[in-house]
Amino acid sequence: MSGADRIKAPRGTFDVLGESSAARAVLEDRARAILGGAGYERIETPTFEATELFARGVGESTDIVSKEMYSFADASGRSLTLRPEGTAPVCRAYVEHGMHKLRQPVRLWYLSSFFRHERAQAGRYRQFWQIGAEALGSEDPAVDAESISLLAGLLDELEVASLRLRLSSLGGLAARQEYRERLQAHLREHAGRLSEEVRGRIELNPLRAFDSEHPGTRAVMQSAPRLLDFLSAEDAEHFAEVRARLDVAGVAYEIDPTLVRGLDYYTRTVFEFTSDRLGAQAGVGGGGRYDGLVQQLGGPPTPGIGWAAGIERILLAGAAPHPAPAPVDLFVAYGHSRESEPATGRHAPAGAFALLSEARAAGLTAQMELAGRSLKGQLGYANTLEARYVAIVGAGETVLKDMLGSSQETVAQDAVVHAVLRGLRTL
Ligand code: HAM
Repeated sequence: MSGADRIKAPRGTFDVLGESSAARAVLEDRARAILGGAGYERIETPTFEATELFARGVGESTDIVSKEMYSFADASGRSLTLRPEGTAPVCRAYVEHGMHKLRQPVRLWYLSSFFRHERAQAGRYRQFWQIGAEALGSEDPAVDAESISLLAGLLDELEVASLRLRLSSLGGLAARQEYRERLQAHLREHAGRLSEEVRGRIELNPLRAFDSEHPGTRAVMQSAPRLLDFLSAEDAEHFAEVRARLDVAGVAYEIDPTLVRGLDYYTRTVFEFTSDRLGAQAGVGGGGRYDGLVQQLGGPPTPGIGWAAGIERILLAGAAPHPAPAPVDLFVAYGHSRESEPATGRHAPAGAFALLSEARAAGLTAQMELAGRSLKGQLGYANTLEARYVAIVGAGETVLKDMLGSSQETVAQDAVVHAVLRGLRTL
């Protein structure tokens, strides 16, 4: 029989199944413990937002906004975009809910899916998950150091291998502007040796030249002016204080004056964790300060700092967390009248379902046979589930097997749950 054409998941997307979903649950638990313990509260923002939020927040000249967004017009003709990142939405929510009136800094974390139309490959997807943390309302360098330390701690706990932390400062807007002009002059002077792409972006986004793999461009960038040399005294002091706090916290880092991040909102501190385990897509997580973003989105002047890390990349570079299997207190099995019959098509007796319901109502974790297996097959299955007890429901009475003690007894069906509870209490 030929079926209909199979429909596949879109390129760059994937299904989260079995072990992977269990590993993600462990990651989420660890994140909640670490971030919740540090005073961060969970936030959920909508999957889609007004396109304008990202155009204004992330920046028109970035790759994300200029070519990677999933934007669409809804039925009323309004342009919406599947969120490509989480910082602009969090700042939007901060402004929308008047969070500047709360005690500062307001600290929020999220674990959500994001969407970018990128070239799909291992570690780079079109729908991916990030865990992120944002602290709004304080420009104290201790907040920078705390934010970075929390990500370092999370990655350490998840055993992400061969980690490197690169750190830099982009300074304030005035220094950036002056630096930008100096860099543009340098690029124009050596335009002939640059890649076509970099040459085309001299006016729009000259800083991205530091990201280029093109040999000629790389050579030109070796002698390019460095932003760190342009910082104001105040910004340089802020950066020194961030470093001093990371030092006392024992977080190792390298200063990398060529570190540029692919989003326009950054000011002052920027950082990125990479893992040599990951090959081409080495970025595990990164972030920085965005002291002008809230105001740019219509809110009061509010400093902010945060980071996001890719869940898939953490799992690729880390020791897969081993979730403890959910315990099964009771597996409800049943006998067939003639064991030799093929099992398919047989339905479980109502008595088995009644026992399952009673067990769950009493607070036990319970499962039952749902595939019409032979009794032998059911016992094998209960074994793989590591069920502590198996009840084999018969016509009048039920056999209760203690899978740990390898003993069994015959009990009336209405006494099974009581017997299991009693048995568990004696563990
Ligand atoms: P981002 O560097 O664009 O920063 O993304 C953060 C992390 O998300 C990356 O380091 C990477 O692990 C993961 N990631 C990004 N794109 C993909 C993809 N296509 N497939 C798989 N993983 C990916 C931000 O998004 C900023 N919002 C971070 C931030 C928060 N800055 C301040 N606060």
